[in-house]
Amino acid sequence: MPFVEIKPGIYWIGVNDHTTDLFEGLWPIDEEGVSYNSYLVKDQKIAIVDLAKSLKVDEFLSQVEELVDFSHIDYIVLNHLEPDHSGVLNVLGKLSPQATILCSSLAREMVSSFYGIRERVKVVEEGEEISLGEKSLKFFLTPMVHWPETMMTYEVDSRILFSCDAFGGYGALRGAIFDDECSDLDFYKKESLRYYVNIVAKFSPMVLKAIDKLSSLSIDSVAPSHGLIWRENPSLVIDWYRQWAEYAESGGEKAITLVYGSMYGHTEAMMDAVARGVAESGVRVEVFDVRRTNPSYILPSLWVNKGIIVGAPTYEAGLFPLVVPLLDLATRKGVKNKKALFFGSYGWSGGGRREWEKMVSPLNWEIVDSLEFKGRAYPEVLAQGRALGRSFGKVISEL
Ligand code: FEO
Repeated sequence: MPFVEIKPGIYWIGVNDHTTDLFEGLWPIDEEGVSYNSYLVKDQKIAIVDLAKSLKVDEFLSQVEELVDFSHIDYIVLNHLEPDHSGVLNVLGKLSPQATILCSSLAREMVSSFYGIRERVKVVEEGEEISLGEKSLKFFLTPMVHWPETMMTYEVDSRILFSCDAFGGYGALRGAIFDDECSDLDFYKKESLRYYVNIVAKFSPMVLKAIDKLSSLSIDSVAPSHGLIWRENPSLVIDWYRQWAEYAESGGEKAITLVYGSMYGHTEAMMDAVARGVAESGVRVEVFDVRRTNPSYILPSLWVNKGIIVGAPTYEAGLFPLVVPLLDLATRKGVKNKKALFFGSYGWSGGGRREWEKMVSPLNWEIVDSLEFKGRAYPEVLAQGRALGRSFGKVISEL
């Protein structure tokens, strides 16, 4: 994409990624894509704020070259060293050896370990301001949003916050780069939530600290390193992030996620009965089949909804194996403070429920009830499941 002037003298020079299948080697983005937003600030001095993954390097460099001479770049600001924001440094560092890298003290070590660069690296402190002429860059340390070295950069004259991972999301840019140009904000909200839960959620307390720290700033635009630039309504995306971060403690909204797997259809038949009962309670339920849905897409629902129902048959005296990686990721991401229900079929001995209880015990999930049944879900057992769904729905609605 060609560069875009987002304010006088400030340019988006990002790269759209439509070819990476797994972000961080883990999270599917083959359909949605992602953008690596980089920004160039041109004044008496010239700074580039955040870079891009080492992908489409020619496109990135030609955007820079159209705006400035590489030998005139004074600063490269690295808010975060994860290679999706710094990969191009390998090349840009050679083209602009005179540029000084500005980063946090922890980032300095990473600049060395990832890129072998030790010269012309200046550590900036909390609140420090560096003048570019009329414009100036002010730095705020925001550790663990998303790595320990992370900071944000605020351009004082235009009141733009370059927030890096914070307030970003999956989803390549589709022509529109500003919120007010976008005709499908729901897509970016959904993909921002998925990004939040996949990448940042574990550090939710630090997200809240960062938002508190920024609360005294007058912010005209939020320019993250992934996704849309928020200039019409910058508080919208900040409020989304605040709300999602608060779910870490509150457990989320009065709604239910039902995740299930099934081998021969008996647990699936029970899923239909339980979901029917939940629907009768009037509580919203989202249903996912672990056999067909990547955990990346299930985790956001687990994060947002207070009620969780897991349906899984017993497999070799344990839990249906495809449920295990999902629960493991839920543990790693800190999906806590939920109310939970379990159901599942078994052939000759149970064991699924036992392993499930063991897996969720570190997560502070309150187990409200469970139903393991032998073999097929006969009508009387399905009626039990439906009643269970109804009563669990009632528990959630009365929170
Ligand atoms: Fe978008 Fe933590 O990298």
